[in-house]
Amino acid sequence: MVRAIYPGSFDPVTYGHLDIIKRSSKIFDELIVCVLNNSGKKSPLFSLEERVKMLCDVLSDYDNVKVSSSDGLLVDFAKQNDVSIIVRGLRGMSDFDFEFQMAQVNKTISTKIETVFMATEPSLSYISSSIVKEFASYGKSVKDLVPEIVLHRVEEKYNIL
Ligand code: PNS
Repeated sequence: MVRAIYPGSFDPVTYGHLDIIKRSSKIFDELIVCVLNNSGKKSPLFSLEERVKMLCDVLSDYDNVKVSSSDGLLVDFAKQNDVSIIVRGLRGMSDFDFEFQMAQVNKTISTKIETVFMATEPSLSYISSSIVKEFASYGKSVKDLVPEIVLHRVEEKYNIL
């Protein structure tokens, strides 16, 4: 049984994240989608609980995908859950430096951890949670960027009618 973790801040989950989840869930027997805090991203739009709830709603049809969360280090969560594979999506070279550094830091903390990178589907590579929030903050629809459940939550946050 091969289990993997797909970690992220998911503030909020986008179609880009869903693409990686869908494809990873076909490769691994079990995938744990873990919501964590990114110390570089201050003042998230959604609380940890809200982010977990949206992911649970969006992923309810995926039998081998579980949603979890932690306010600690990713490698500690991995150890506690007996998982050594971390999946991260790469949208392009702009993601690479940060992702490579994070993979190496995690490897330094725990030599058993392996990070695997999955290239984002080209048509979704422009999508990010930050773009979703930026668009929505100007009252623009983000219906092409996030699942319907998330769309409603984002519209509520920005009072978009
Ligand atoms: O979706 P993001 O914001 O790119 O995800 C980054 C995240 C949350 C996976 C990363 O910041 C993280 O692992 N946070 C938990 C704390 C941690 O383990 N940091 C890395 C080593 S110092």
